[in-house]
Amino acid sequence: MSSELAPVNIGLLGLGTVGGGTLTVLRRNAHLIASRAGRRLQVTIATARDVSKPRECDTSGVMLVADPFAVVDAPDVDIIAELIGGIEPARTLILRAISNGKHVVTANKALIALHGNEIFAAAQAKGVMVAFEAAVAGGIPVIKVMREALAGNAVQWLAGIINGTCNFILSAMSEAGSDFAEVLAEAQRLGYAEADPSFDIDGIDAAHKLTILASLAFGIPLQFDNVYVEGIRHVSGEDVTYAERLGYRIKHLGIARQAADGLELRAHPTLIPAQQPIARVNGVMNAVLVRGDAAGPVLLSGAGAGAEPTASSVVADLVDVVRALTTDRENRVPHLAFQPGTLAALPVLPIEAVETACYLRLQAADEPGVLADVTRILADFGISIEAIIQLEHPDDPAVVPVVILTHRVRERAMNEAIARIQNLPAIKAPIVRIRMEPFA
Ligand code: NDP
Ligand code: HSE
Repeated sequence: MSSELAPVNIGLLGLGTVGGGTLTVLRRNAHLIASRAGRRLQVTIATARDVSKPRECDTSGVMLVADPFAVVDAPDVDIIAELIGGIEPARTLILRAISNGKHVVTANKALIALHGNEIFAAAQAKGVMVAFEAAVAGGIPVIKVMREALAGNAVQWLAGIINGTCNFILSAMSEAGSDFAEVLAEAQRLGYAEADPSFDIDGIDAAHKLTILASLAFGIPLQFDNVYVEGIRHVSGEDVTYAERLGYRIKHLGIARQAADGLELRAHPTLIPAQQPIARVNGVMNAVLVRGDAAGPVLLSGAGAGAEPTASSVVADLVDVVRALTTDRENRVPHLAFQPGTLAALPVLPIEAVETACYLRLQAADEPGVLADVTRILADFGISIEAIIQLEHPDDPAVVPVVILTHRVRERAMNEAIARIQNLPAIKAPIVRIRMEPFA
């Protein structure tokens, strides 16, 4: 380390789970981090909604200000770490920091997914860096791997467990048969969930992260609106049990795939074979499986949320920015892996055009001919069955749960078949459909 170089000054927006964790890691590992970055990194100024609130992190020596604009306008600050979350005022603060010539590090996937194109263009024009490793999969260095380590590959598809809260809930349902609301409250207590936890359980957070990964993989502009989104509210303990009996686990996945006629971008619960390594990624752990034409399948896993795992990624970005401060702007790694002028508008498929296998759970009256009617409808739509089991209803002997696994089928045909089956008088409850991915 060159001891003559002045320290780099950081302004921290937010002192919550991630902001507090970042301050703690920067202090605890200050010497190590300075040795790696070549300069000392010091947080000189920070803001929060309530600056008088007692904090777990040590804020000594940091000027605490109530006005976040005082942080982005501070003349001696070199890098802004935006760890507030949400769209506003985070977007305005980041754009102001950029226009003030400051580099930015953020963990805000919602903001990058929705406004990243605007933010990156502003950063490009001003010649400053915007880094966002912590925005996808917490402590896993997936952005760096996608952008740099896999730069020689044509990515064929990627699939990731990219929401820690959903994985925490689905794992607890599978391991302990726990109650959904109780597990969600525990995820909130541990700091995993978003400020509005419906972002997690309705799949929106995973879709934000998938938006970012898809751009890095396929060289397309960020386009959250084209992602098909489904959450985990409709997945019951019964579905988890039936899937396991059939040799599968249910995971909430973000999937991006280059199909023959366009790109699939989707985030939804998915049955995956239990013997796949990604199926054994449980709790708050995340994993991203990327298939490159040259590297083949690459699996990255680690903690997907929480104070210090996320801080690990924020600090890695801070170190990257400090290192790059001496590099000319043309030689910096582009935000979305591809040079801005080469981003292409590839067609994204509507969900109706996507092909997947499916798990269907029906609640049918226990009477002759029902299974024959169901299988006839599936056959009418050209849907072939991989497995079918009829079970006992835990509470009602007059109703039989029927679980069907299909082979791959176009979503449009499956929708029509489900609608026809749902109309049979013998079907007593809404049909549950969960898509399946064999990763073959
Ligand atoms: P928290 O709610 O724990 O912290 C947010 C912080 O921002 C708090 O200190 C809050 O102040 C402050 N804040 C909120 N609004 C304002 C405002 N208008 N002006 C000034 N300060 C404000 O959130 P997290 O730390 O969990 O999340 C921060 C970001 O990191 C989000 O974008 C999130 O999506 C992302 N992220 C979170 C992960 C996690 O595991 N929690 C993992 C990966 C990314 P106060 O403390 O006074 O309320
Ligand atoms: N709420 C997010 C999750 C935080 O549960 O994955 C990490 O991005």
